[in-house]
Amino acid sequence: MLDAVLARIDDTLPESLERLMALLRIPSISTDPAYAEACQSAADWLVADLASFGIAAEKRATPGHPMVVGHVSGEGPHLLFYGHYDVQPVDPLELWDRDPFDPALEETPAGKVIRGRGASDDKGQLMTFVEACRAWAAKHGSLPCRITFLFEGEEESGSPSLVPFLEENAEELRADLALICDTGLFESRAPAIITMLRGLLGEEIVIRGPDKDLHSGMYGGPSINPIRVLTRALAGLHDDEGRVTVPGFYDGVPELSPELAAQWDALNFDAAGFLGGVGLSEPAGEAGRSALEMIWSRPTCEINGIVGGYTGEGFKTVLPAEARAKVSFRLVGTQDPAAIREAFRAQIRAALPADCTVEFHDHGASQASHMATDHPAFEAARGALAEEWQTPAAFAGCGGSIPIAGHFKKLLGMDSMLIGFGKDDDQIHSPNEKYDLESFHKGIRSWARILDAVSK
Ligand code: BES
Ligand code: MN
Ligand code: MN
Repeated sequence: MLDAVLARIDDTLPESLERLMALLRIPSISTDPAYAEACQSAADWLVADLASFGIAAEKRATPGHPMVVGHVSGEGPHLLFYGHYDVQPVDPLELWDRDPFDPALEETPAGKVIRGRGASDDKGQLMTFVEACRAWAAKHGSLPCRITFLFEGEEESGSPSLVPFLEENAEELRADLALICDTGLFESRAPAIITMLRGLLGEEIVIRGPDKDLHSGMYGGPSINPIRVLTRALAGLHDDEGRVTVPGFYDGVPELSPELAAQWDALNFDAAGFLGGVGLSEPAGEAGRSALEMIWSRPTCEINGIVGGYTGEGFKTVLPAEARAKVSFRLVGTQDPAAIREAFRAQIRAALPADCTVEFHDHGASQASHMATDHPAFEAARGALAEEWQTPAAFAGCGGSIPIAGHFKKLLGMDSMLIGFGKDDDQIHSPNEKYDLESFHKGIRSWARILDAVSK
């Protein structure tokens, strides 16, 4: 019967694609209040889409954007599928080759791609699972096991409503295993099951000096310059070996086990090709660590944005009153976000001269998480993925952060299995985001195979 489902997926791919296009046309940018209505529309669209093949679903209000929850009963394991329908802002808009919310199937030298904001992160990926379920229901009249659907609309803006929602609806949402489709293929070619996810800690710093912007000729010298104070403090966050200097930062950072090191070595990751793909050639970062290790299992500190003074056209000899920066840390092992936040703030405060003040803004934090790869579903999924992609599935790490996996474990005692079909060049969060038609098609087929294998 799996063959019939796979054939149905192939035959109805054009309709599946049309549905994805409809979802992509809804500009559900969660971080910008101007798009709150669109987030409602995306949630409504998903409720209706689940209902269209017999799944009882509803939009659930939160203090922010709504969740979509759907249930279908069945025998065997209870699975929860999670995806997010919100997307990142589109700016800089002028770098897009088309309207980000007027998606299209484009021919490229590398094959057909679905172009549009959210195509890969995460609407296209979310729909791979929905379409697999639709095809299954069409062929069998029901789904292979009990499934709960959970779609979030605030993932790209730090999930402010998620933890309370999980706490309030714990009984309803707890399943035997969560499936999450929000990650990528290994080297854009091999299926991957994510075994460890990094945590994330966000901080914003505002340093203030003089009570107004000043003429830098009149005041430069005797007046403290907040940009100089800020950049010096930021430069002090790393040592010459690329290690983070925040005291206690490496507490809870494990060394890679020899088994995992050997497993990753065997993946033969092409670090030169990875850097070459974005116009680079020299590995930066921590001395003595491989690129894969740095992305998957080492913690980092990155400065994500910095502003101050005059940044417009032309030139202005200003001595600025304030300077700002946004800094994030990727966390691994058992690193404690709260302790690192405190140590970071103390380090910045210690770098302040008497005439400067600093203000910190908390942009959220999540711990790293590790998947229970000994759960039988992992082997079942690994076999299913290898069948579909005709290449072994990698147990991989993930440089990005998906905090919900940690919340599922902590709040619901539920393990997660993360499988996704994105490619490195999908340009997620960037202009001209795309999702390969191959990712979409084989992604749908992959979930059908996984559901078949896991529900047995
Ligand atoms: N889908 C991404 C995470 C991701 C990125 C997985 C790259 C695999 C490869 C997710 O939507 C995301 O963007 N996460 C943010 C954190 C979130 C709390 C805003 C991230 O990793 O920066
Ligand atoms: Mn995502
Ligand atoms: Mn994202």
